[in-house]
Amino acid sequence: MTDVIRVDPVHPDAAALARAANCLRRGGLVAFPTETVYGLGVHALDRAAVQRLFVAKGRPANDPLIVHVESLVQVHDLVLNVPDAARDLAARFWPGPLTLVLPRSPRVPDEVTAGLSTVAVRVPAHPVARALLAAAGIPVAAPSANLFSRPSPTRASHVLDDLDGRIDLVVDGGATEVGVESTVLDLSGVVPTILRPGAVSLDTLRAILPRVEPRSPGEPVRGAMPSPGMLERHYSPRAPLTVFDGASADAVARLVREACASIAQGRRVGIMAADEDRAALAEVERLGAGAIVSYLGSEHDLATVASRLYAAMRELDASGVERILVRGFPGDDGLGVAIRDRLRRAGV
Ligand code: TXA
Ligand code: MG
Repeated sequence: MTDVIRVDPVHPDAAALARAANCLRRGGLVAFPTETVYGLGVHALDRAAVQRLFVAKGRPANDPLIVHVESLVQVHDLVLNVPDAARDLAARFWPGPLTLVLPRSPRVPDEVTAGLSTVAVRVPAHPVARALLAAAGIPVAAPSANLFSRPSPTRASHVLDDLDGRIDLVVDGGATEVGVESTVLDLSGVVPTILRPGAVSLDTLRAILPRVEPRSPGEPVRGAMPSPGMLERHYSPRAPLTVFDGASADAVARLVREACASIAQGRRVGIMAADEDRAALAEVERLGAGAIVSYLGSEHDLATVASRLYAAMRELDASGVERILVRGFPGDDGLGVAIRDRLRRAGV
C-alpha cells in the first residue's frame, strides 16, 4: 500500500515530514515534490533500498541517480573534492534546478552512480523537499517519480498513476513549478558540459563559468554507458507524438492539416498548442469529438508552457487519443531549449 500525506507546499507540517523522513531513513521509497518534478527518494547510502527503487521504477541499472542534499556542505561527503567552479555555481544557483556531476567519493554506492566514477548532486529549492532533507539528515537519491520512460510527474496524482502500490509514501505538495527536470552540468571533465538542458540556461551558466559547452546531439556520453536520460526516446506518452517545428504559423498550419486528415480517417487526435493557436485550431475543434486540444500557454510564456508540458501528455494519454500532435515552441536558451529537448525525446 502506498500512503499519501498531503502537506502545504510553502509551510509543510513538521510532523508529516518527520514521518516521511523516518521512512526514508529506514530504507523506504518516498515520492516528494521538488521545484522541477516529483522525485522518488531513497536513502542514498543504503544499497538495498536503492536496488528496490530501481525495481519499483522499472529503471535499468545503468542509469545513474541524482543525490539530493540540503546544502553544499553535504556535498563534501559525496565527492572527492569540491572544485571552485562547483562552489561558484552553487553560490549562484542553489537551491535550484541545477545538477552538478563531480568525481565521486567511494562512500557513494555503485548502485547510485551505475558504476561511474562520478556522482550527480543537487540542492532542490522546493520548501517541501528542503524540509524533508533537513528532517531526514541523509543524502537522498531521487530520480523522477515515474515509471521508466513515462513523462516525469508534476503532480502527486501522476506519481500514483505510475507507482501506486510499488512505493511506501507520496508527499503531496501540489503541482511543481518548473515542470521540466533540472539542468545537468558535468564538471568532471576538462570542459564543463551540459548533459541535459533545463531551466538554468547555458547563458546564465556562462556568466559564472565562461567555458561551459552544450553537449552536441548524438555525441556519446563519457563514462561506462550512455545513460537512458540521454537516450533518444524517453519521457514519452503512450500515444505516438509528432512535433511540428519551424516558424510558428507555418508549423501550426501543417499540424492542422495533419489533424484534420487523421480525424477524417476516424482516428482520435490529441493536440498540444499555444494560446496563440486558438484561431487556427478552430477548424479542428469544429470537428468535435475526434480532437482534444490542450493549450499550454502563450508561446512567449515558456515558464507556463514547461509547467504544463508533462501533465498535458499524461492527460491526452488518459483520454485515449491514438496520436499526439504538438506545435514546436520558440526560444534559444533555457526553457526553450529544454522544452525542445523533451519534445524531441518524446517524439517518434
Ligand atoms: O529535476 C530533476 O533533476 C529531477 C528531480 C527529482 O530532482 N530528477 C531527475 O532524475 O530528473 P532522473 O533520474 O530522472 O534524471 C537524472 C539524469 C539522468 O539523465 C541521468 O543519466 C543523469 O541525470 N545522471 C545522473 N548521474 C549522472 C552521472 N554521474 N553522470 C552523468 N549523468 C548522470
Ligand atoms: Mg527521469
